[in-house]
Amino acid sequence: MEKKVIIDTDPGIDDAVALAMALFDPSLDVLAITAVAGNVHAEQATKNVQTILDQLDPPRLPRIGAATSPNPPLEKTTSHVFGNDGLGNSNFPVAELHNLHPSEKLLVEEVRAAPDEVTIIALGPLTNIARAIHRDPNWASQVGHLIIMGGTVSAPGNVTPAAEFNIYSDPVSAQEVFRSKMTKTLVPLDITDPLIFSYDFLDRLPSEDSRGGRFLRKILPFTYRAHRQVLGLEGIWLADAIAMVAATNPSLFRIMDDMSADVETNGFLTKGMTVFDRRVHRKWKANLAVAMEMDSDQVYETILKALARCGESTLDS
Ligand code: RIB
Ligand code: CA
Repeated sequence: MEKKVIIDTDPGIDDAVALAMALFDPSLDVLAITAVAGNVHAEQATKNVQTILDQLDPPRLPRIGAATSPNPPLEKTTSHVFGNDGLGNSNFPVAELHNLHPSEKLLVEEVRAAPDEVTIIALGPLTNIARAIHRDPNWASQVGHLIIMGGTVSAPGNVTPAAEFNIYSDPVSAQEVFRSKMTKTLVPLDITDPLIFSYDFLDRLPSEDSRGGRFLRKILPFTYRAHRQVLGLEGIWLADAIAMVAATNPSLFRIMDDMSADVETNGFLTKGMTVFDRRVHRKWKANLAVAMEMDSDQVYETILKALARCGESTLDS
């Protein structure tokens, strides 16, 4: 039975890799891809979702949700690692669709149509998820599962010493989502940061004889160079690809079920920090599960297998 999923995303090169994995996975029914501002501003995020679908041309086209600007507006983007366009300044041509529905409208509609069946994979700030909660007070209880790439348990942040980018970008929405009744699993930097995708990963991507191979080999070199020049890293992080594996192969992770977390929304130094109550006599109620460990080698190979499937499915005829 295919798993119904909606992917909420701020493409972003690691988001694009996660989408290439999901769109050709026979175990997934990707109902919709909903764009959200984060790595890039709202309009660019919506354009990038269309570009990725145009370049990969998957067997089934999901619905597309349009991102709308968060309030307050984004403080930062990630152009330093993903380029001004979010896809390595690849400047792919794309015939943009107009009159797209806003992402939060699609999220509400698709979950209402299949209560308790839909898994939402959130790969960007939680703006759309919070807006869907506002749109329909019953919605949160009808979501099957929300998997969130974001936050940290005890690892350092990546946008400030205390905060991870997705949560930092819209902490008020993140706090609403953390406090909601949804079944939630967090995939934090604690497990995504230790897995560095070296140049071996680039070598093992599908060949240029496929649309998928050409797309991945077009967008990834920029971020390899950027990670090296800006961050001094001999390789890249692909947090969203790891979060996608958490959705498709949860057995590769050790999930702590009953954690209690909230989000700092005001701190001068700690805005966007995910705060966990791990006191011996915990006072906060359990509100989410957290992926605390993973079989890194298996996760790495699972990502490559999924991308190989993307390559095989898009071979030039
Ligand atoms: O902190 C990593 C997250 O921020 C990833 O989702 C990346 O795409 C950016 O959105
Ligand atoms: Ca992302």
